[in-house]
Amino acid sequence: MDTTADAKKSTQRVIPIESPSFVSEECLEQVGQPALLFDRIRPLAMEIGCGTGDFVIEMAQRRADLNFLAVDIYNKGCLKTCRKVDRNRLDNVRVLRIEARQLLARFFEPETLHALYINCPDPWPKKRHHQRRLVNSDFLALIHRCLAPRGELVFCTDFAHYAHQVSALFPFPGFDNCLEEICAHHLQDYPFSKYMRKFHESGLPLYFVHQRKAEPVRAQESARRKEPVNGGFAQTCSGGSR
Ligand SMILES: C[S@@+](CC[C@H](N)C(=O)[O-])C[C@H]1O[C@@H](n2cnc3c(N)ncnc32)[C@H](O)[C@@H]1O
Repeated sequence: MDTTADAKKSTQRVIPIESPSFVSEECLEQVGQPALLFDRIRPLAMEIGCGTGDFVIEMAQRRADLNFLAVDIYNKGCLKTCRKVDRNRLDNVRVLRIEARQLLARFFEPETLHALYINCPDPWPKKRHHQRRLVNSDFLALIHRCLAPRGELVFCTDFAHYAHQVSALFPFPGFDNCLEEICAHHLQDYPFSKYMRKFHESGLPLYFVHQRKAEPVRAQESARRKEPVNGGFAQTCSGGSR
């Protein structure tokens, strides 16, 4: 597992977070399962790399029927997200400062995650750093295990090369595409994160991949199906040079 995110986490000057919506790693270890961090049991959704929390706050307001984990390794981002959770009196958000793959691998029971959102993940633009990108085939296998049947994955990037790379991973065994093509520039009713808004307002394109975990029978079928690699990206997601 790439340890870059871990290294970044351990070198930050850490401002203590007192908010009731913040969950320390120690607390998570005691509780054991992320679903038990909430006062009420509801289906669980997660944003990886919540940054300053704009997206997760909007989602949690819209979807009071879901619980949300807002996950980031960035202490200040967690702090800002907690402030927004508390200001909006949201009881369905918990903020965790933890490396996302560790969280998924160590704490998630299979098929317990109903939705996963990844917005503008670190693009690692230099070629020698591409292997540090969060989303790759190992990551898809990890989240496939954690997602509930029909659980959704939304990936959004402003970075054409990253969009291309993720699009090329699909079709991936056990996932169904939710869009007409693998990648699209718009996703209806999807809130903006801070970065998404910034790129959108600068006139730069966003790239969305939206997949669902297949039902068990469909998963076997799609593993057997042979479909062209990178289906559709070129038609819908051309343009953009970042
Ligand atoms: C470019 S920022 C985008 C923030 C936010 N999603 C937005 O769109 O405004 C990427 C965020 O992902 C976080 N991040 C990067 N790798 C991570 C990992 N492995 N686990 C958790 N958070 C991570 C970074 O700390 C950073 O806050």
